[in-house]
Order: sequence, then structure tokens, then C-alpha cells
Amino acid sequence: MLEQLVTKRSIRNWLLIACTAASGITSTFCSTVALAQAGPGKAAATDDLRPVYANAQDIADGKRVAEASCAACHGANGISATKGIPHLAGQRPAYLYLGLRAYQSGARSDESMTNAVKFLSDDALVKAAAYYGSQDPAQPVASSAGKSASAKKDPVQTGKAAAAGCAGCHGDAGVSKTAGMPSLIGMDPKYLVAAMKAYKNGQRKNEMMKNFLSAISDAELENVALYYGLQKPARAQTPAAGDQAAGKAAAGACAGCHGEQGVSTNAANPSLAGQDAQYLAAALQVYKDGARSDETMKALAAPLDESAMKNIAAYYANQQPQPPKVQKPLSASDLAQRCDRCHGVDGNSTDPRLPALAAQRADYLEKVLHAYQAGARKSTAMAAMSAAMSDADVENLAAYYAGKKPRAVVFVILPGK
Ligand code: HEC
Ligand code: HEC
Ligand code: HEC
Ligand code: HEC
Repeated sequence: MLEQLVTKRSIRNWLLIACTAASGITSTFCSTVALAQAGPGKAAATDDLRPVYANAQDIADGKRVAEASCAACHGANGISATKGIPHLAGQRPAYLYLGLRAYQSGARSDESMTNAVKFLSDDALVKAAAYYGSQDPAQPVASSAGKSASAKKDPVQTGKAAAAGCAGCHGDAGVSKTAGMPSLIGMDPKYLVAAMKAYKNGQRKNEMMKNFLSAISDAELENVALYYGLQKPARAQTPAAGDQAAGKAAAGACAGCHGEQGVSTNAANPSLAGQDAQYLAAALQVYKDGARSDETMKALAAPLDESAMKNIAAYYANQQPQPPKVQKPLSASDLAQRCDRCHGVDGNSTDPRLPALAAQRADYLEKVLHAYQAGARKSTAMAAMSAAMSDADVENLAAYYAGKKPRAVVFVILPGK
């Protein structure tokens, strides 16, 4: 096939077809690469593609360059065993070449790489790129570390796991079935975190809750609150005896803080809609007698007698709770869908100028994503893509792609019409 490519070099308007080979070149999946009028007959734009058109001799020459100048760091077959040094094997050849030119011109700065390419001719760069691109890619890291780390880092799942022991009292998914036990749904996570911390540090007095929560780290409390914040709100499945109409009239003074119909829009003030009635009445009582300390609520509860408390509680218990404003953080595979648009399915790029990410070293991917964020490595596309990523997103995406199966791409060049 390589010979065929060489003999057709003089034909203009070539069609470049990328074939990802599952194993060998026997079972292939091919797609046309959108390269406007790509072909060796074209100047400037196609210059970048020279490594794609390399023949067997070029690749053999490239191997010699690699052994002399690159193998010490990248491995003779392009599989790096060193932290921070990328695998090159099976990487897209035009991308490798563009990268090498960027180190040579100073557009990308890395001392090791600047020194490595300083004295190499353009021809040597083309051939080294062609050689490494032709090698079998590294295997995905059986990412026990990566996978469990990223699974552990899904905040909603960890929050759910930490809240497993709470369901007995607070109900499945936070909807109480037991009179006296508060529901935990429909609450702003910030309120829940503040409430849980107050139990932990003794500011809100309840020995039982203190014991349950003392085993959970503050970071984990955030996840627990996020988990409850994302559950579907429903009214507590508990009785709400009391005069709702009287309660509604008495609750006029409460709407300013707790919202119309008890749906608060301020994280500092808990929502009351759909809350267990017995808990609501008991909370008003303990504010009144000072056992739960809050000056605002103490003053508001002071004039209420027991039946007024019951009525207010019945009114709020019958209101429909609403989901708080919480967004589910995107998982690595959600985020990766946006990356795959350019980097190919599961990070297997079929554009010879765009890097494959599948099975790349996770440490290198992390380093590079941080470099794009900091502007130390320049790319308009990647600056935009990485800007909003949290450190956890970077870590999760790196582990995700490091664990993906790489597919080598064979670029087949056919003459166009
Ligand atoms: C002294 C160690 C060292 C040597 C020798 C070396 N490299 Fe590198 N190479 C690195 C490091 C470190 C990086 C990552 C730099 C960065 O973050 O920009 C890198 C990055 C690269 C990249 C960018 C890969 C990517 O995915 O963007 C290419 C291409 C590359 N090297 C090719 C070569 C070639 C070809 C040679 C031989 C001519 C070579 N390197 C020699 C250490 C080395
Ligand atoms: C044995 C029953 C029980 C278990 C188990 C339990 N709780 Fe509670 N929880 C209560 C009771 C009772 C209250 C009300 C205490 C009070 O009056 O301050 C409460 C109050 C709370 C509150 C405050 C609600 C509000 O509206 O201010 C939060 C938040 C909370 N619990 C979270 C949890 C979490 C998270 C767990 C599991 C780690 C848990 N609870 C386990 C019984 C329990
Ligand atoms: C000025 C604002 C404000 C007003 C008005 C107000 N509250 Fe509150 N309420 C709060 C704040 C803040 C808290 C949380 C205090 C804490 O951390 O214990 C709270 C807590 C509560 C709680 C405990 C909820 C829980 O999940 O533990 C109940 C019940 C309550 N309020 C009922 C009422 C009622 C009934 C009225 C009207 C009579 C009222 N509040 C008026 C600010 C207000
Ligand atoms: C609009 C197209 C586009 C999208 C979408 C995109 N990238 Fe990129 N990416 C590029 C280009 C172009 C480069 C090469 C830039 C350079 O030379 O530094 C690149 C380079 C990279 C590199 C460096 C690879 C290496 O070997 O050094 C990583 C890592 C990367 N992208 C990750 C991602 C992730 C993760 C996402 C999704 C959150 C993403 N990209 C989305 C276009 C894109």
C-alpha cells in the first residue's frame, strides 16, 4: 500500500481516508477525513501532512532518528515509562510533526524537547513523526487506580453511599416516613451542610445526630448534601394534624424568609414545604424555649402557642416541596462527549493533525490540561475547553482517557475526483 501511495503522489486533490484498525488492518472502520483538498500536490496546508505520506524508507530513517535522539525519554517504540513524558506510539503523525515544529520554533516550550529537536532538520522531524506514528500504541492502563479514583470522585455517588445509613430515619432518598424525623429533600445543600456542621461542632445540640455525623468528613458532608439536593422532592409521608387554614394565616410573617408556600430562595433559610409536621412543630418549640439557639427564630416563635405551632406545621407540611437550585456535576464521560468531537470516539482521533488521547499516560494528560488552563501551552481550542474545568474534572478526564482502548489509524490516500 505504501508504494501505491508513493506512485500516486503526483495526483492532485487527494482524498484522505482514516481507517481505525481493531487488530491489524483486517477489520477496519474507515471514514473520510475532512481535509479541504488535501494532497501532496498542494503547498502550505499539506506540508503538515508530509508524515502521513511517508514511505517505508522514510519510516526506517525515522527509526534511526528516534533511536539516536528520542528513545532515551520516549522509548524506542514510543512507549514512555517516565512520568510527564508522553507516549508517542500510534499518535497521529501530522500532529507529532506539528508538535515537533512547535518545540523547534519555541511556540511550545519544554527544555528537554527544545534540546532534543534543536539540531534536527525538518526532514528528520517528518521521519521521526512518521516512525512513531506507525508504532503500535500503548495498552490502556488497567486503570484500577484511575477507575476507582474516578468512581470515588463522583460526588453524587459518594454522597449517596455516605447517606446509606440515614435512610432508616430520614426515609429513602430523604423523604421522611416517620413522624418527628425531618425530610432532607427540597433543601439547598448549603443549608444542609451548615445544619450538619452545627451538629458536629455542638452548636446545634443533638447527641444522636452528632454521633452519626462525626464519622463523616466535612468534604463528604458536601457530597451528602449534594446527593439530597438532587433527589426528587415529595411531601413527607407522615400525618399532618392541625388547621391548615389557620396555619396559613399565621404563616404570613414567615414568607419573607421561608418563601411563598415554604419554598425558600435563600440558602440561609430552610425550605419548609412538605416537611414532616411533627418535626416542624417541635422545631418551633425548641426555638421558643431556647434549646435550639437562633435569635431570629426565637423571637418569631415566642408568641406562638402549641396549637398555633401545630396549625403552621400542618400548613407547611401540605405544601409542595420544590427542587433547590443545584446542578449535577458532569461526569468524565459526559465531559468527554465534548472532547470526542475533535479527538475522536473514545479519544481515537481520525484527523492526522489532532492528537489521540486514548491510552495516553494519565499524568501527562493532567500536566497538559493544566498547562492549557494556565496558558503555558497555547491552543485556542484547548484554552476554551479547559477553562471551566475543576481540578477534579482534569483528574477524572485524564484517568478516563488513559483507560480507553487505543486504535491505531491507517491513513489511506485515494485520488479524488
Ligand atoms: C530528555 C527527554 C526527551 C527527549 C530526549 C525527547 N523528548 Fe519528546 N518530550 C519530552 C517531554 C518531557 C515532553 C512533554 C513536554 C511538554 O509537556 O510539552 C515531550 C513531548 C514530546 C512531543 C509532544 C507529544 C504530544 O502528545 O503533544 C513529541 C511529538 C515529542 N516529544 C517527540 C520527540 C521526538 C521525536 C524526540 C527525538 C527527536 C524527542 N521527543 C526527544 C521529553 C523528551
Ligand atoms: C436514628 C435516626 C436518625 C438517623 C440514623 C439520622 N438522623 Fe438526621 N436527624 C434525626 C432527627 C431526630 C433529627 C432532628 C434533630 C433536631 O431536632 O435537631 C435529625 C436532623 C437532621 C438534619 C437537620 C434537618 C433540618 O431540617 O435542619 C440533617 C441535615 C440530618 N439529620 C442529616 C442526617 C444524615 C446525613 C444522616 C446519616 C449520616 C442522619 N441524619 C442520620 C434522626 C436521624
Ligand atoms: C428573618 C427571617 C426568618 C423569618 C421571618 C422566619 N424564619 Fe424560620 N428560620 C430562619 C432561619 C435563618 C432558620 C435557620 C435557623 C437555624 O439554623 O436553626 C429558620 C428555621 C426555621 C425552622 C426550622 C427548619 C428546619 O428544617 O430545621 C422552622 C420550623 C421555622 N424556621 C419556621 C418559621 C416560621 C413558622 C416562621 C413564621 C412565624 C418563621 N420561621 C419566620 C429565618 C426566618
Ligand atoms: C474544537 C476541537 C477540540 C475540542 C472540542 C477539544 N480539543 Fe483537545 N485539542 C485540540 C487541538 C487542536 C489540540 C492540539 C493543540 C496543541 O497543539 O497544543 C488539542 C490537544 C489536547 C491535548 C494535548 C494532547 C497531547 O498529546 O499533548 C489534550 C490532553 C486534550 N486536547 C484534551 C481535551 C479534552 C479533555 C477535551 C474535552 C474537555 C478536549 N481536548 C476538547 C482540539 C480540541
